[in-house]
Amino acid sequence: MRVAHNPTEIQQSLGTLRKQKSIAFVPTMGNLHDGHLKLIAKARELADIVVTSIYVNPLQFGPEEDFDTYPRTFEEDAKKCQASGVDFIFHPDNLYTQDGPKVTLCVDTSLSVPLCGSKRPGHFNGVATVVNLLFNIVQPDFALFGEKDWQQLVIIRRMVQDLHMPVTIVGVPTQRESDGLAMSSRNRYLTPDERLRAASLSRCLHTIRQGFHDGESDSKLLLERGRNVLAGADIEPEYLEICDEETLEPLPRLSRSMRARAFVAARIGKARLIDNMPLYTMEAINS
Ligand code: PAF
Repeated sequence: MRVAHNPTEIQQSLGTLRKQKSIAFVPTMGNLHDGHLKLIAKARELADIVVTSIYVNPLQFGPEEDFDTYPRTFEEDAKKCQASGVDFIFHPDNLYTQDGPKVTLCVDTSLSVPLCGSKRPGHFNGVATVVNLLFNIVQPDFALFGEKDWQQLVIIRRMVQDLHMPVTIVGVPTQRESDGLAMSSRNRYLTPDERLRAASLSRCLHTIRQGFHDGESDSKLLLERGRNVLAGADIEPEYLEICDEETLEPLPRLSRSMRARAFVAARIGKARLIDNMPLYTMEAINS
């Protein structure tokens, strides 16, 4: 495994290899957990070479957010990458010009403003810009993203489609702790008590999904049941919504044929956590 610290280094390393071999890319901000390792394992299945980037992208953090305190654990991350069969880590110090980027991507508000976008203005423009930049540097055949960040996945798929980027985007199901909590680097901010309460996020989504499968089609009533689960753990959600999983538009009434997905975000102590679950498959309901 090799570590490249700037775009030239990674491009030189991949330059001749890419002529004969396929490349799968796992962009991350580091502090790798089993969710990331699942992405890497899937990348290993898909391509000859696996590249992981570790870069905490300042452009996607708001002024009040955790950019400065975001966990930076490169040594541990590198060991995990090595053990998981990563070929190259791309770990730049900074990806932007000194005076900041003058040209960035702008995601349509229909995708960037709902859900997380309402509390994180500019976040998805920052994500789209850095992912575009990383794709230009690595030029992967495949790029893998976790479904926990569903809105991010939708936006990246749409970016690739709209801008005709020659890369296949692969979404990988959310990895969960044994009590259902979606794995996230931000879980480490939770105190033991908060960690217990945090499990109610996925319980709330399960409750909504179960209600739908039991025949309830009124989203307002389903969301009410979900809110009750959160209230039991003293959690006031930032949002709790049922939306079309591609357009992200709220769905007031549900039917089996809809691609409906429930989304939740909440602040628990210092952590802002998100989760989502599809409502439409029996497979999902049994998971
Ligand atoms: O999901 C993440 O970790 C980040 O948003 C990403 C895709 C690496 C861009 O910085």
